[in-house]
Amino acid sequence: MRDLMILADALRAGKLVRSEFLRAVATVGVGTAGLAAVGLPAFADANATPTHPPRKAKYSIGFSQSELNSDWRKAESDSMAAEAKKRGAKYDYRQMVANSDTNKQITDVADLIAANVDLIVLTPREQDPLAAATAKARAAGIPVIEIDRATRGKPGSDFVTAISSNFVQQGNKVALWMVENTKGPISYVELLGTTGASPAILRAKGFHDVIDREKRFTLLGAHDGNFTLAGGHAVMTNYLARFGHKIDMLYSHNDDMAVGGYQAIREAALAKKVYIGSIDGTRRGIEYVADGVFSVVVQSDPHFGPVTFDTIDKYFDGQAIPGSITVKDVTYTKANAGRLIGTGF
Ligand code: AHR
Repeated sequence: MRDLMILADALRAGKLVRSEFLRAVATVGVGTAGLAAVGLPAFADANATPTHPPRKAKYSIGFSQSELNSDWRKAESDSMAAEAKKRGAKYDYRQMVANSDTNKQITDVADLIAANVDLIVLTPREQDPLAAATAKARAAGIPVIEIDRATRGKPGSDFVTAISSNFVQQGNKVALWMVENTKGPISYVELLGTTGASPAILRAKGFHDVIDREKRFTLLGAHDGNFTLAGGHAVMTNYLARFGHKIDMLYSHNDDMAVGGYQAIREAALAKKVYIGSIDGTRRGIEYVADGVFSVVVQSDPHFGPVTFDTIDKYFDGQAIPGSITVKDVTYTKANAGRLIGTGF
């Protein structure tokens, strides 16, 4: 309690700004009850994202990236780094990469908190384990902006905002294309993204919300391919061995797995057309749509740099930030893929 009273006096005397105070309070381990006991107003709540950050000449931003194992992830990181460089007079920027290891990402966020950065940008590999890491940042008075993927928390209080594609709508769009452009009974397999990742959960939901209403579609199997080409190839090889010619359609939660799945189909020398629908918009994915190899690809635009730093600008400027910001994505079909190849990455 004595430590808390000293900190409270420092805050009242203006020797500490609010975020510094909240970080110090988090280290002495007192909650809102303790704050009330020393007569601090409600705004000094260690469990609230600071809404009026102090103005500084330069802010330090830490980006926690889940992995760099694909063109999609590289495009996202490159976009963030390029934008940070453009705004280098205002921001110091560092990136930490978790190498597909959720526990490492939790440690990375803890390291950014310990380094006392002014704001954390997080692309959480899995939605539940990273929610606790976001809560720790918040308790230390460090705001978090989640990009691309999100945790299960409440935007606006657990974190500042979530900037993301509409993953449910992406799944809806692939399913609608299949409903409108195929005929008769269709048996299909699904390559799922990383278990526990928000796009895997929501792309499955969006697809099944539409396709499960159509009785002519039958799901043969769905399995985690971890969003990787190798994972998609391994799962599809297994399905081809089990179901062979029964497979009419492949729904993949991203292009890398779809490419792996397509390679497995070629290796199995399946003498039939398999409809392939996928999400991302990699250059190879769009080329495959133009060539008629893939039927439909819904974009998931990885270029988060400009919108993220615009939002960070607004945050430090004290402007209101909406709880969610949705990225617009296009749909690639045979009709437009040829002229849109340049939008791939
Ligand atoms: O979170 C977005 C997904 O993550 C992309 O669709 C996928 O390619 C990446 O690994």
